[in-house]
Amino acid sequence: MGAPGAGKGTQAQALTRRLGIVQVSTGDMLRSAVQSGSELGRKAQSFMRNGELVPDDVIIALIEQRLAREDCRKGFLLDGFPRTLPQARALDSAGVALSAVVTIEVAPGELVRRISGRRTHPASGRVYHLDDAPPQTPGVDDDTGEPLVQREDDREEIVRRRLKVYGEQTLPLVAFYRQQPGVALHQIDGNGTVEEVRGRIFSALRL
Ligand code: AP5
Ligand code: MG
Repeated sequence: MGAPGAGKGTQAQALTRRLGIVQVSTGDMLRSAVQSGSELGRKAQSFMRNGELVPDDVIIALIEQRLAREDCRKGFLLDGFPRTLPQARALDSAGVALSAVVTIEVAPGELVRRISGRRTHPASGRVYHLDDAPPQTPGVDDDTGEPLVQREDDREEIVRRRLKVYGEQTLPLVAFYRQQPGVALHQIDGNGTVEEVRGRIFSALRL
């Protein structure tokens, strides 16, 4: 968990590599559905464009299908899900036992700075930052050489909306997981370099 721009995608890349598990990012899945023009993409697009959450029933169905796939058998890392209490309860009622919940906490001004410099590789979800994590060659992805893009919802007024929605709808999940038996909640200081934050997460998870 973490506010928009906190570094969920960035840290998920290091964690999934280390643990040999898949990253399940609802944001990336929705963006590729929008790109492909599927029915799900058409449903999700207007919510995402405006910085609102996609309705719970749509997201819960999407996650149920994704977690049933073979590559999730060894474990998975959820990035950007759950984001509301009904989503967290649906995960719980489906019998999905989370071993840990990590929240990345970053000062609001820094979130805006990170988001404005972000560039992404849509096909893989890899993220870069113009100043802090630039690609080897400007404008293109390190692994594929394909062009990097700026996300449509990274415009300033939409970012403000996304931050507000996070505070209202997602932040209450911290209290939910604090009292959930069997789940270790780790609240991580997300200020500092990518490597510093990664070190804090790895040591909290004893990796
Ligand atoms: P989603 O794609 O999940 O967006 P988000 O939550 O707003 O988070 P971001 O992806 O913007 O940030 P991040 O924390 O991954 O940061 P990143 O690592 O990229 O969701 C998008 C939309 O989809 C939602 O608004 C909603 O409409 C819909 N949606 C998705 N899931 C949903 C759900 N469950 N329910 C309903 N709707 C849903 O880092 C940001 C930048 O900072 C990068 O440039 C990076 O290089 C840089 N950076 C990272 N860490 C550092 C550091 N330590 N120092 C300096 N720079 C850093
Ligand atoms: Mg992300």
